[in-house]
Amino acid sequence: MSTCSAIVAITGNSVSGSNSLDDVKGSSVVVITAGFPRKPGMSRSDLLKANADIVGPASEAVKKHAPNATVIVVTNPLDVMAYVAWRKTGFPKQRVLGMAGILDSTRFRAFVAMELGIAAPDVQAMVLGGHGDSMVPLPRYTTVGGIPITELMSKERIEALSQRTRDGGAEIVKLLKTGSAYYAPAMSAVEMVQAILRDEKRVIPCSVLLDGEYGMKGLFLGVPVVVGAAGVERVIELSLTAEEQAMLATSGKGVREMIEELALDAVA
Ligand SMILES: NC(=O)c1ccc[n+]([C@@H]2O[C@H](COP(=O)([O-])OP(=O)(O)OC[C@H]3O[C@@H](n4cnc5c(N)ncnc54)[C@H](O)[C@@H]3O)[C@@H](O)[C@H]2O)c1
Repeated sequence: MSTCSAIVAITGNSVSGSNSLDDVKGSSVVVITAGFPRKPGMSRSDLLKANADIVGPASEAVKKHAPNATVIVVTNPLDVMAYVAWRKTGFPKQRVLGMAGILDSTRFRAFVAMELGIAAPDVQAMVLGGHGDSMVPLPRYTTVGGIPITELMSKERIEALSQRTRDGGAEIVKLLKTGSAYYAPAMSAVEMVQAILRDEKRVIPCSVLLDGEYGMKGLFLGVPVVVGAAGVERVIELSLTAEEQAMLATSGKGVREMIEELALDAVA
């Protein structure tokens, strides 16, 4: 997704590239995309450690040079890297967000629109949980012009589209052959930046630090939030069925295990 070796600064209409983290100085929003996509032969654990070693120092530089910034993390594994950024910046939880749910729900929206032969902008979708195989698409909260898709599609088709959403990243990698998705992820990050800079109060699923919401605490996970000038202005707690809540808890467990694997508590 990145267009230069390290840092891209955007001020007004101008875009400049740099190799120095000092150039984030004074930024109001910093998007961290630095890091590796998972490559063949790379274990999940290798990726976790390699990217923590990149996102950690980048976050420390943000703390030093842009102490008032809101940070949007894109690097994978997303929910854990957002946690790393939060710990390393020491910023309040409102000012660290992970970009995932907006992309995953956009993919779900696209698949629903293609299936029904209707306009994608008329589809609203909600995808919660970790950004990975355990993400939780929520058909009950996915609508077409206000109509829940459960009224328009069979259970089997909804499950197939939900699974295609979970596999969306891998589907793109397979088509591209080299590299991972960049267009929709970049647009998703831009929408989040705009929501903050324009104080739009958008409702966007983002990976945020949970503090008891959805029965979880101390980890980043994708949930619907109101995004505005203050960053995460409010977490929206949806009522979930027992099955949905169990899927979300499983997703959270996977994220927590990765956080524990990094043993960040010892170094933060
Ligand atoms: N959250 C999402 O939905 C989502 C979507 C797409 C990609 N991603 C993730 O974003 C990350 C980047 O993906 P990409 O496709 O842009 O990869 P890429 O290889 O094209 O770009 C990575 C960039 O990071 C830079 N970099 C490496 N180490 C650095 C360091 N120490 N300091 C500063 N910059 C450094 C590299 O120079 C390179 O420009 C990956 O972890 C990928 O999995 C996440």
